[in-house]
Amino acid sequence: MTKPTEDTVSADLTARFASVLMPTYGPPPVALARGEGAVVWDVDGKEYLDLIAGIAVSSLGHAHPAIVEAVSRQVATLVHSSNLFLHEREVELAERLLALAGRSGRVFFTNSGTEANEAALKLVRKYASTRRGGGRSFIVAAENGFHGRTMGALALTGKAGIREPFAPYGVEVVFVPYGDADALRSAVTDECAAVFLEPTQGEAGVVPAPSGYLRAAREVCDETGAVFVLDEIQSGIGRTGTWFAHQHAGVVPDVMTLAKGLGGGLPIGACIGFGEFGTVFAKGDHGSTFGGNPVSAAAALAVLDTIEKENLLDHVLAVGRQLAGGLAAVEHPLLTGVRGSGLWQAATLDRPVAAHVQAAAQDAGFLVNAVQPDAIRIAPPLVVTGEQVRTFVDAFPEILDTAEKVEQ
Ligand SMILES: Cc1ncc(COP(=O)(O)O)c(C=O)c1O
Repeated sequence: MTKPTEDTVSADLTARFASVLMPTYGPPPVALARGEGAVVWDVDGKEYLDLIAGIAVSSLGHAHPAIVEAVSRQVATLVHSSNLFLHEREVELAERLLALAGRSGRVFFTNSGTEANEAALKLVRKYASTRRGGGRSFIVAAENGFHGRTMGALALTGKAGIREPFAPYGVEVVFVPYGDADALRSAVTDECAAVFLEPTQGEAGVVPAPSGYLRAAREVCDETGAVFVLDEIQSGIGRTGTWFAHQHAGVVPDVMTLAKGLGGGLPIGACIGFGEFGTVFAKGDHGSTFGGNPVSAAAALAVLDTIEKENLLDHVLAVGRQLAGGLAAVEHPLLTGVRGSGLWQAATLDRPVAAHVQAAAQDAGFLVNAVQPDAIRIAPPLVVTGEQVRTFVDAFPEILDTAEKVEQ
């Protein structure tokens, strides 16, 4: 495996990183310098095919002319307005998102996914107390789900290892096994304020909801008056080949949260309340100094325009099929399967060697992510070409061989 050696720029940067940054991520295996399309280069000039896109963020890849142009123009015009003043880009972006969802509602812009879920959490609490007469004491979420790292979003996060060290929380959350419609039906009662789910669990290892699961969630929310919140932070903005993943299931949420791919790399998130859920917050109920700032909103509009103009939803479906089919056809003792949709796939392994596979892929010039000890996440920019995907699929058996040898 390549390790930064003393005389590389990477090694020097990694040492500096370790001495001044908190070790929450550390130390990252590659120091990136620049990118173009789905290709990135590290600080020592090594080239990689980026098959993770900053964790499903860089939807148009790197240095896409539409983002460069939109952001440069906006920076030269108006960088910041705060929410004391409005600006056209945020209005335009909210209109576009509602049109893409095909529904009326209202949008609250944030800077990140976790903040979008914080907004959703406050919204459902206010809805329960002001429009459902109170007495709704808990929220239902899924085991292994991930909704963010701030205290409210973390309370909803079903990964005990990252949630429990920071307990207690001021929110009572009942966790149910993801995908089990009966467990969901039993947990969601008239005392439940809301159900928070991902349409596919990203951080759990790209685990799609079984067919009928989202519909069951919708139905039990309708029966009990709980608010149905879909976290589309990782799954939204074309990643699965539709604008939002729930559109595959033909099920609509009351509230949807977005971030990641929306800004194409610029920080922006959104909490969208549809119908009556758009008017739960009143003046003064919530706020963000930077949320929906002109530069991030301009980048997001460029992302949406480009997905439309370049017909990227169809592209995601076609290249996603090629990726999934190509990986599934690989015969290797380490590989047990492939799951996911569109350009969001996980290769599952028969033992916990994902870190070795990630390292072997990196040595071979491919950035992928060991999302679970036994699963490799592949979430490339939506603009990745069929030819680029083919190079990875061709290289994959040898990457697995290398990982297997390291393990032995
Ligand atoms: C489904 C989901 N929700 C929320 C988040 C948190 O987003 P952020 O890291 O922008 O706060 C993530 C991040 O991975 C996510 O995948």
